[in-house]
Amino acid sequence: MNIAIIGTQWGDEGKGKIVDLLTQKKKVKAVVRYQGGPNAGHTVVVRGEKHAFHLLPSGILYPDKTCVIGNGVIIDPAVLAEEIKILEDSAGKKHARILISEKCHLIMPWHKIRDVLDCGKIGTTGRGIGPCYEDAVGRRGIRLIDAANKKRLGLRIKEELTWNRCLIKTWKGKFNLSSEKILSDYWQALEGIKKNPLIQIGDVTEWLWETERKGGEIIFEGAQATLLDINHGTYPFVTSSNSTVGGLLTGTGFRPKKLEVIGVVKAYTTRVGSGPFPTELINKTGERIREIGHEYGTTTGRPRRCGWLDIPSLIYAKKINNLDSLAMTKLDVLTGIGALKIKVNPNFSVDTVELSRQRPVYETLSGWNENIAKIRRFEQLPQAAKKYIKRVEQLTGLPIKLIGVGSDRRAIIRKNV
Ligand code: GDP
Ligand code: IMO
Ligand code: MG
Repeated sequence: MNIAIIGTQWGDEGKGKIVDLLTQKKKVKAVVRYQGGPNAGHTVVVRGEKHAFHLLPSGILYPDKTCVIGNGVIIDPAVLAEEIKILEDSAGKKHARILISEKCHLIMPWHKIRDVLDCGKIGTTGRGIGPCYEDAVGRRGIRLIDAANKKRLGLRIKEELTWNRCLIKTWKGKFNLSSEKILSDYWQALEGIKKNPLIQIGDVTEWLWETERKGGEIIFEGAQATLLDINHGTYPFVTSSNSTVGGLLTGTGFRPKKLEVIGVVKAYTTRVGSGPFPTELINKTGERIREIGHEYGTTTGRPRRCGWLDIPSLIYAKKINNLDSLAMTKLDVLTGIGALKIKVNPNFSVDTVELSRQRPVYETLSGWNENIAKIRRFEQLPQAAKKYIKRVEQLTGLPIKLIGVGSDRRAIIRKNV
């Protein structure tokens, strides 16, 4: 069965860990990113070694698989080249093959400047995401297809530079790079990528189609999360792509015949950047969760805002993505916190004015003090931890099939449902 892994909250739920775990299965042939860009930071921990992926799919550590970057992903060639270098310095050439869609849009230097000047107010990652997607929709984007040869890329850079200089000047920003400098930097990074024998730029749709036809299973790795989706999230405090399941179809040009959709949820909630967050804990408990859970951004290092679990928002994520089940990560972080609260208001609103006014109605559950990091069977969890899981299942109407009890690849409980 093909599987889509989708964030149910405001990101950083542990999608990378779940993708890495599911990729182990022999029948899985490919792991696909289909939206977002280097704003994503997905962590995989293998025997104590931490890997952070921004553009590379989290199945990259398996040499016998193919990692696919679909057309919906926007690429910063320097970030991709650096990420591959870090990976190869640590893992050598023993990583998955990489197939990148020629239709991917490139993040250009002016996108990063516009991001900071225009979009900074919502607390973006500053990676040029919004402006790059804006240009893609505005039909001004530069794609990998345009980088087929140096002359063509140089022409496109010149065409876009004039307009961008004007735009940045009106916002009283500075843009000093020449088209020659941009071309030489981009060409160097792209040449390095193209020369790598494990990387191919080509037709993703065709390859996925053939892989499915031959019986291979595919994992689709969502970046960001439901509440950050451009159409369905807490607009305008969102990212600029479809991070709900819908992004999968347009971001690959491929419709899987069968698809299981697993929502990843942290045992509590975090958010980076601005925007309403009704269950936010601006107190010692929030700080404690941040410290125990190492809640600092994988991409920007910013402290993540922490709060209780929000059940109505999970039910919203269930409906938008038609989730089949949940994977709950970071249950271990709640150990020793004391009594636990979950928000149970009857409704969730993505109207940010209404959401910021909403007063959370909480249900209180008992906490536990036992260390659960080494537990691998649901039955062995403390009574209170089992009750917490069961109550979330009951309130959301979704089975929780995987439970994370530590950052390592092996720190997981597979629960029979
Ligand atoms: P993603 O963006 O959804 O892939 O999540 P991130 O990688 O940005 O953030 C999740 C963080 O939690 C990473 O540092 C993971 O290594 C860590 N993590 C994932 N699952 C667990 C878990 O079950 N327990 C603990 N303690 N850490 C986890
Ligand atoms: P992963 O895939 C958490 C947030 C930013 C900001 C908003 C818009 O690791 O879960 P952008 O740079 O995308 O224009 O910023 O979205 N954001 C994330 N928050 N995890 C992410 O990705 C995020 N990607 C973007 O903090 O509030
Ligand atoms: Mg992350």
